[in-house]
Amino acid sequence: MAFNYINQRLHCDGVDLQDVAEKYGTPAYIYSEQILRHNAEVLKKTFIDRGFKVSYAMKANSNPTILNLFRNYGLGLDIVSEGEFKMAKYCGFEGSEINFAGVGKTVEELDLALAFDIDHFNVESRFELELLEKRAGIAGKKAVVLLRLNPDIDPLTHPHISTGLKQNKFGMSPEKVRYFLTHPESFPHIQFDGIHCHIGSQILQPQPFYDLIDYLQKFTKSLRGEGVKFNNLDLGGGFGVNYEDPLEDISTTTPFLESIAERAIEKLGDYQLHIQPGRVLVANSGVLLARVLGNKENGGHRFIIIDGATTDLIRPAMYDAYHAIYSHIEDHTTKIYDVVGPVCESSDALARNRNIPEFDTGDLMLIGSAGAYASSMGSTYNMRPLSPEIMVDGSGETRLIRKRQSFDEMISLYT
Ligand code: LLP
Repeated sequence: MAFNYINQRLHCDGVDLQDVAEKYGTPAYIYSEQILRHNAEVLKKTFIDRGFKVSYAMKANSNPTILNLFRNYGLGLDIVSEGEFKMAKYCGFEGSEINFAGVGKTVEELDLALAFDIDHFNVESRFELELLEKRAGIAGKKAVVLLRLNPDIDPLTHPHISTGLKQNKFGMSPEKVRYFLTHPESFPHIQFDGIHCHIGSQILQPQPFYDLIDYLQKFTKSLRGEGVKFNNLDLGGGFGVNYEDPLEDISTTTPFLESIAERAIEKLGDYQLHIQPGRVLVANSGVLLARVLGNKENGGHRFIIIDGATTDLIRPAMYDAYHAIYSHIEDHTTKIYDVVGPVCESSDALARNRNIPEFDTGDLMLIGSAGAYASSMGSTYNMRPLSPEIMVDGSGETRLIRKRQSFDEMISLYT
């Protein structure tokens, strides 16, 4: 189960990636079904079997084939938009398996979710509470709400994906959360039933999670002292993965998952506990397969230009993220290169100053850890079509699970 070299050629679960490139073209995202299943199994064993509810944050990768696969392991969905809501429904998730998060929700989104009786809303501000109260009243329903608390904890990650610091736009101060929980009477159509936190993403150390658990223990204790009762605590997502060596599996890249589960149960076990992981379930299951268009040198700098681009994987440009680069043919002689796409932006780079094998025109390159926040953040800038997604199913078969966007599909939007 893996992406690995067999006879010096990179394979995914026994399938030579050159065959995949020839069949489906490049650039393309390739996923290993076996890795996805393994990841879901680890989360199930670590959290669901200990009584947690796990909602997959589908923003990480919203391909319906992947959502359906996770559903079989008992995972629900964390959604943040009308599109994600409709995708969840399309895949057959029940309302009780869905929670709706996000820093702002439209009237249409609230109405759709209320009509579908979703499990709960995670609410982040007064204006949203007031709107939900109004829409739930019109619908004649009582909406279950978890208030998103901003605990001002540093997740020790990239600033663009830190969400639990008090200067971030996310969540509410503890004072506001306390106020709403102790004054529910102005919201007769809302059942305040818990607290939600999500402090950041790609967190590689357990300490921020321990701090969060300890914080919530104190906070809930003081709320109980004021007579406030509720059932749920959601610790969010954010579990990081090893981008340096994506060929490792989840149980080695995230060894602290179990300790977080244990500590949460020890300190917060009176509540129904939830988590909303995204990346950890999908990141290492995918690669971006690209073909080399050519090499060039400018000002003493060597560039490899590939047919994939930031439109397929924006993470290096957006967060200075590291993604491992592999050659399809195993080769240990290396040089320093920048790997760039054809998009007309200097930021269109997949790797910079990277010691990697030499590549010639026509060679295949693999960019690792492209299962999370790659296809789901894809764009059509420069009129580039969205790239296809291919599942390798573990028995030597490949399946197209999203087509390459066609020009006709792109042009059909224009009037
Ligand atoms: N819950 C909430 C409320 C979130 O906002 C997120 C991610 C998650 C759960 C899942 O977090 P995860 O387990 O995947 O870290 N595009 C960025 C990541 C943005 C994360 C946004 N929120 C990246 O590529 O690193």
